[in-house]
Amino acid sequence: MGGAAWRRGRRRAGGLNDILGGQPADASELAEIYDLEHDAIVEDLAFYRQISRRHPGAAVDLGCGSGRLFLPLLSGGASRLVGVDGSPSLLERAEARIEADPRLRTARADGRIELVEGDVRRVRRNDRFALAILAGVVAHLDGPEDALRALGSARRLLAKDGVVVVDTLGPGGLPARDLPLSLDWDRTEGGRRLVRRSQIERRETPEGLRVSYATLTDVVRADGTIARLPASWRLWYPSPAALVALAAEAELAVESVFGSHDLDPLNEESERCIVVARPATADSGKE
Ligand SMILES: C[S@@+](CC[C@H](N)C(=O)[O-])C[C@H]1O[C@@H](n2cnc3c(N)ncnc32)[C@H](O)[C@@H]1O
Repeated sequence: MGGAAWRRGRRRAGGLNDILGGQPADASELAEIYDLEHDAIVEDLAFYRQISRRHPGAAVDLGCGSGRLFLPLLSGGASRLVGVDGSPSLLERAEARIEADPRLRTARADGRIELVEGDVRRVRRNDRFALAILAGVVAHLDGPEDALRALGSARRLLAKDGVVVVDTLGPGGLPARDLPLSLDWDRTEGGRRLVRRSQIERRETPEGLRVSYATLTDVVRADGTIARLPASWRLWYPSPAALVALAAEAELAVESVFGSHDLDPLNEESERCIVVARPATADSGKE
């Protein structure tokens, strides 16, 4: 389906939901760079294919970005897929991804993919899902209160037997020290040279690690001019114990906690923290 149908249902969510919107650089240019970096992440795709196979039915990808996980979720067997994101620019790219892939295009034509611009902290829908995913999203929330809202939102979307997967960095994946402005990569894409630098400042707080992450991407155009795209984010990483406690507070019963997408047990060296939880009470969908 062409055109941004999700726009029709657009509601103002306010707050921090659009991570590219308030940046000094153009949001659609940042979204293009975002895609370049995120599409390189493939190590979790088999995990998402597998989890969707284990929980057949409708899936909701909360903070779907440009839809990196759509194909594994559908090929795992999701009967229907709803992608929710707060960034219009990333949803535009999700549209483009769907258009470009025959399998996604067919699923969309069959009414099996829906994109929604919204805030993961306050998604309200009447339909229920076998699987809800919050992948890489908690870090973008402002802290425990917002995480609680997002977890509660996910819980209310779940069918009785549904599960939510919360996927974030584990203790071993977090920066151990500040990183001065450094070169991340320098590559040529689509005839343009792209040079990415970034800087990290970290702060331990009672509610987890706070990280200021600033990036500077230079796009060297064919005529030799350089577009400089600065952006910055305030990220938050709760400890695994804090995340599990927040899940319980959101009335979710934690079923498993993994330290990798290969389902290794979580420990201090784990690069990921993946929490799988179910509604603690039978009446999912309650406020
Ligand atoms: C690191 S990306 C992960 C994207 C995708 N889940 C993936 O794994 O490729 C985080 C995503 O969360 C979205 N996001 C962050 N906070 C949000 C909020 N409050 N409401 C909706 N989307 C949000 C961002 O726009 C971005 O697309």
